[in-house]
Amino acid sequence: PAHRPLFGKHVLITAGPTWEPIDPVRYIANRSSGKQGFAIAAAAAAAGARVTLVAGPVHLETPPGVDRIDVESAREMAEAVKRSLPADIAVMVAAVADWRTATFASEKIKKRGSAPPALLLTENPDILAMVAGSPDRPPLLIGFAAETEHVVEHAREKRKRKGADWIIANDVSGDVMGGDANAVHIVTAKDVVSLPEMPKEDVARILVERFADALAR
Ligand code: C5P
Repeated sequence: PAHRPLFGKHVLITAGPTWEPIDPVRYIANRSSGKQGFAIAAAAAAAGARVTLVAGPVHLETPPGVDRIDVESAREMAEAVKRSLPADIAVMVAAVADWRTATFASEKIKKRGSAPPALLLTENPDILAMVAGSPDRPPLLIGFAAETEHVVEHAREKRKRKGADWIIANDVSGDVMGGDANAVHIVTAKDVVSLPEMPKEDVARILVERFADALAR
């Protein structure tokens, strides 16, 4: 039915930041409110999908009808995503921290009497690329790209490099972060559709309609 175009489909979404612990009281994180990912989860559920939302630490309520799995670190997010496959559509909206510290200090690192610590970093798993290479790769796999310049160019390159079907790119040089509005470019293999700035809920509804159209083709 036209009003529940994702009925019977499983949609897997990541949202929010990840926290990479340095010691029991400190962490590395990316800036992310989780609002756009949660809005997509709400819109997908409203469109009739079964929705799994793997959420990093955010202060947002779970949208109605959404199964939420809370995680903190990128590695926990990767595990939760693996366990949640297969899916018909995966939308990786999370702002995953690219690096974590190579070791975790089990006691609080002391400031007094020593030089500032040097943090040795190691790379986190790329969840989007992992899903793209998985035997359970969803038929429609979508990544996000937050860029501050050459937004569409970088998104085109990222789409190919990560093996996603689409990249939704947004220019975060303004005040998108934590705000309620977003302007996105939908970069696919064949074209780029640029939407004007609008509330994140409206972006989500339009994206979900396009997901349903793409699956139906
Ligand atoms: O490379 P960059 O972080 O800009 O890529 C953004 C896209 O890749 C987003 O869809 C994000 O959720 C995903 N990503 C991921 N795991 C990472 C880094 C990014 O899934 N470690």
